[in-house]
Amino acid sequence: MSYQDRKDDHIRLFRAFYRKTSNDFDHVVFVHHALPEMGIQDVNLSTTIGPLQLPYPLYINAMTGGSEQTLHINEQLAIVARKTGLPIATGSMSIILTHPETEHTFRVIRQANPKGIIFANMGAGYGPNEAQRMIECVEADALQIHLNAPQELVMPEGDRDFSSWMHNIEKIVKTVTVPVIVKEVGFGMSRETIRRLASIGVTMIDVGGRGGTNFIQIENERRRNQDFAYLQDWGQSTVISLLEALQENNKVEYMASGGIRSMLDAVKALALGAKAVGIAGRYLYTLLKHGIDALIHLIQTDLEELRHLYTLLGARNWYDLQKTDIIFKQEVVGWCDARGIDYKRYANRSR
Ligand code: FNR
Repeated sequence: MSYQDRKDDHIRLFRAFYRKTSNDFDHVVFVHHALPEMGIQDVNLSTTIGPLQLPYPLYINAMTGGSEQTLHINEQLAIVARKTGLPIATGSMSIILTHPETEHTFRVIRQANPKGIIFANMGAGYGPNEAQRMIECVEADALQIHLNAPQELVMPEGDRDFSSWMHNIEKIVKTVTVPVIVKEVGFGMSRETIRRLASIGVTMIDVGGRGGTNFIQIENERRRNQDFAYLQDWGQSTVISLLEALQENNKVEYMASGGIRSMLDAVKALALGAKAVGIAGRYLYTLLKHGIDALIHLIQTDLEELRHLYTLLGARNWYDLQKTDIIFKQEVVGWCDARGIDYKRYANRSR
């Protein structure tokens, strides 16, 4: 099967499997305080992550490129990013190294969005020269390196050797001309992973947790006997990953993605310490099913809903969200107990 077919398969299977299921964001509850003491006009949604200044705490996460169908999707997503002001990530660009004729399927993102914030995206199996080439192809403002070992192992034609990843990431972080974000693709992060990444100089991490698009499910469907069905629940949710991350005392700033179904989920992730929240599936599904205008409308509505939710929580900005009071239900508490995470401190932050 060609690389192009695989990318088209991902879109087809993503669409077939997409549904909003219950996830750990349902096990996170804000304490309601009846006096917000502010109005919607006081809300400032802007955020920073590393050297990047973002007008809103949302970004369109990495998805696609590499085939003619995905060229069209990338162009539409880039127009949406331009019209809404959201940063956008490319899909994995590694294909341009072996098939330079696919470069235009990624470059279209910069062409359609000349002044926007763009993240180039690549796997961790490559070195700094390759990374720099991808950055230059889309004139990227940052580079996402994705970690996806479960996906590769279930993918029939996937990688089986991940021994070079740490070394590659360390060299890339030291060498490339833009900030580097290390992201999971939906299986989450542990504090041990984060400690290892911080030790080699990584300062921006998208915890990319379970709860949304599931690449074990998608890749398993591409296997003749679907023999990895039992692995479908592998990984840490986005909520758990953030709780794990914030245990570590380091210079890392966090982004969160995986299973964001509504702006309430997004605000929960922000209140759990993420500086910005990435959305892939929810936006792609809207684009594929309802078209570009519907997606622009959805994002504009999302931004308005964020303002409402900040107001409900009495939060003028991201820093105020860190003082909201949060209760976790038993599903999350069990994990925290076992891992020594002090979840109770989140319940009384506003005092
Ligand atoms: C992805 N994702 C992804 N991530 C990445 O780092 N490189 C990639 O090439 C891709 N490709 C890709 C294709 C498609 C069709 C989808 C839907 C997603 C993963 C994505 O960035 C994100 O981490 C997960 O989808 C989880 O977020 P959602 O979908 O639950 O919001």
